[in-house]
Parts: sequence; C-alpha cells; structure tokens
Amino acid sequence: ASKYRSFPPVGLKDRTWPDQVVSKPPVWCSVDLRDGNQALIEPMDVARKMKMFETLVAIGFKEIEVGFPSASQIEFDFLRMLIEENRIPDDVTIQVLTQAREPLIRRTFEALQGVPRAIVHLYNATAPVMRRVVLGMDEDQIVALAETNARMFKDLAAEQPATQWTFQYSPEMYSNTELDFSKRVIDAVTAVWQPTPERKCIINLPTTVECSTPNIFADMVEWTIRHVERRDSIVISVHPHNDRGTGTATAELSLMAGADRLEGCLFGNGERTGNLDLVNVALNLYTQGVSPGLDFSQIDEIRRTVEHCNQLPVHPRHPYVGELVYTSFSGSHQDAIKKAFAARREDDIWDMPYLPIDPKDLGRSYEAVIRVNSQSGKGGISYLLESEYGLELPRRLQIEFSQVVQQHMDATGKEFSAKDIYELFEREYRVD
Ligand code: KIV
Ligand code: ZN
Repeated sequence: ASKYRSFPPVGLKDRTWPDQVVSKPPVWCSVDLRDGNQALIEPMDVARKMKMFETLVAIGFKEIEVGFPSASQIEFDFLRMLIEENRIPDDVTIQVLTQAREPLIRRTFEALQGVPRAIVHLYNATAPVMRRVVLGMDEDQIVALAETNARMFKDLAAEQPATQWTFQYSPEMYSNTELDFSKRVIDAVTAVWQPTPERKCIINLPTTVECSTPNIFADMVEWTIRHVERRDSIVISVHPHNDRGTGTATAELSLMAGADRLEGCLFGNGERTGNLDLVNVALNLYTQGVSPGLDFSQIDEIRRTVEHCNQLPVHPRHPYVGELVYTSFSGSHQDAIKKAFAARREDDIWDMPYLPIDPKDLGRSYEAVIRVNSQSGKGGISYLLESEYGLELPRRLQIEFSQVVQQHMDATGKEFSAKDIYELFEREYRVD
C-alpha cells in the first residue's frame, strides 16, 4: 500500500472521472542517449554513454534509445560495444533512430547486426513548413517517402531473422501537422508493416516543438487514437518537448487521452528547453499512490551521474531533485513542518505541509528541510537546536532568543547554520 493519497482527494471520491486520472504507469522510454545527447554542448563519449546506459538500466528502464548510429562514429561504436560485449540485459530493449534515407537506414541495420532485440525508429517531417520550405515535397511525396522507407525496414529486418524487431515511426512535427494528413502517413506506414496485436509497432507522436496548450495536444492524440487504422496493433507513444514549459502537463494529459508510452529524458535534458522530464512524471505518479516502476530511491546519486554524463548542472529548484526543494526558510512554513513532524505516526498517510513527498523516499534526509535565514522564525531556530544539539528551549526563551538571532541575520543578510545558532546561544546565555 502506498503512503500517498490517490487522486481525486477525499471529498471528490464519489465522482469518478476515469479518464481524468492516470492510474497506471506508461511504458517508459529514455531518449537521454539520443535526443538528450544531441543537445549537449559536449556530446557524451563512449565512457559517459556507457555510464548513462548503466544508470538507466539500474533505474528500471526497459526501453532505451541508445543513439543515431548512422549519424556519428561514436554512436555506431557505442552500439557495437553494447552488442558485442553483451551489455544489454535480457529484459531491456534498445532503440535506435534513423532518418528516412536509404544509406542511413542501411548503415543502421549494419550497426544492429547480432542484436537479440531492437526497436528501429524511423522518422520524417510531416508539417507544412517542413514540406514546403525544407523538403520541397508535397503531401503525396511525403506519404511515398514514409512508405518506401518503411518497406526498406521490413526488407532489411528480414535479412536478420534471429533478431526480434519492433518498428517505430514518428511523424516529426506531428504537433504542427494537419491531423488528417498525419493519419494518412501513419496509416500508410502501418499498412506496410502490418502489425498485429501480438507483434505491435510503435507510433510515436512528438511535440517536436511545443506550440499549443497541453490540452490541445492531448486532444490531437485522442483524435489520432480514435481514427488511425489498426489501433489494436499499435503502441501509441508520445514524445513531448518543453518549449512552453508544459512538457509534463502535455505528457500527463496525453496519458489521460489514451497514450500508452512516453519518451523523455532524466531531469528534462534535451533540445532547446529540453525533452519531457521523465523523473517528474514518474514521481508525480508516485505521490498519487501509483507505483511508476522506476526506482528513484537514490535520486542524488542519479543526479550526480547525470550531471557528469551531460556536463550540465540540475537546477537547485528542479522538482523532486533540486538541492533546495525540501528546504523551508520561511518562519510559518517551518513552524507548520515542525508541528507536523511532531504529530506524525509511522504509518500515517503522507500529509505534511509544504512537503509533497517524503524526502526519505528519494534517499534525501530531513536535515535540509529547515534552514534559517532572515525570513525564518522561532520554529526553525528551535527545530535546529533540538534536532542537531538536543537542546529544547522553553517557549519564552524561544521567543527571546529568536529575536537575538534575527538581529544577527538582519545585520549579515546571511543564512545561519545550526552550528552558528548554537554558538550564538552559548555566547548569549552561557553561565560559567
Ligand atoms: O522531437 C522529435 O520530433 C524527435 C523525433 C526524431 C522523434 O526527436
Ligand atoms: Zn525530440
């Protein structure tokens, strides 16, 4: 049983909105090693890629996009290393991306020689601006391009029958594409692949660039789910980016709209403002009593590894993981947290003011929950003296001493550690 309250909260329980909750986790696919990597100032070398891959496996990802092997020698070599050194666990399927161009597709299948299982991910742009300005193709030509390359996938896969293949197609810029046209392209691709309910293909719907509110995108996903042919043989995947800062909302609403699978990166790395932050969605589910099937119980260690691999810092206010997200400086918050900790019993449902999740569930401690600066009050000061030095002050002394601390902090403008507070207390009240 989860210690977190499921949604909707008490009081709304009689109203059931089955399509307005996410009650089971999606299939997760990490694209850190591909979309995340292609956005880095210094793309990962093979050693950093391997470290990231092992971290993703340890977290519990069962589908991992490991690169774009026809795009660079490092990507190709990394894939060969995974295969030749048997680094892919039996319950993990790797995924690779290729553009819809014959030489790239041939090189991709060459890089995959000998892999036990793989998802091969084909994409081409479908949006009007890409058709008109970048590709110089009309609608019929785009459909023919997707069909021809889907057929090539099928033929090349048939040459390696020992591998268990899954095909994936992305209409790049789906979010900017006319719905009936994206349906036409998707139907053309699935007509070639002929998936079945037992051997599904994946149709991945990207917000290559976020350009609408999340509900509009989720409505598009729902429309596509209702209208595509062979729905029962397709895994519907969603690949949000975060240009409007709404990647997480887009993902959650898309799941409510019926999507089965999410692609994204740890802590939202990725092109421009990033890909969907998978940690955010997973822990949002967790705090509503739904087990995400991903293990973030040592989140700081994961953050440090990701920072090393990406050579990019995670912001101190990043949801769930930032250095400051379990810390309260304000006096009234500190007071409420202190009282709630004192009243809490072991098996109580988690209902703590200002703490949406128990930091201990992520391997964080309570130590950083209360920190003292000029915004703080007596609650925080006495909490630190008590928890760090076992010093319980009577209420009147708490009030008096907090004014002393306040004067010092107003003068310096700096944070006061538990040690600073204790030393000040000793100076002020010590009787020799
Ligand atoms: O954002 C995007 O459209 C992509 C595709 C290649 C899936 O990353
Ligand atoms: Zn992307």
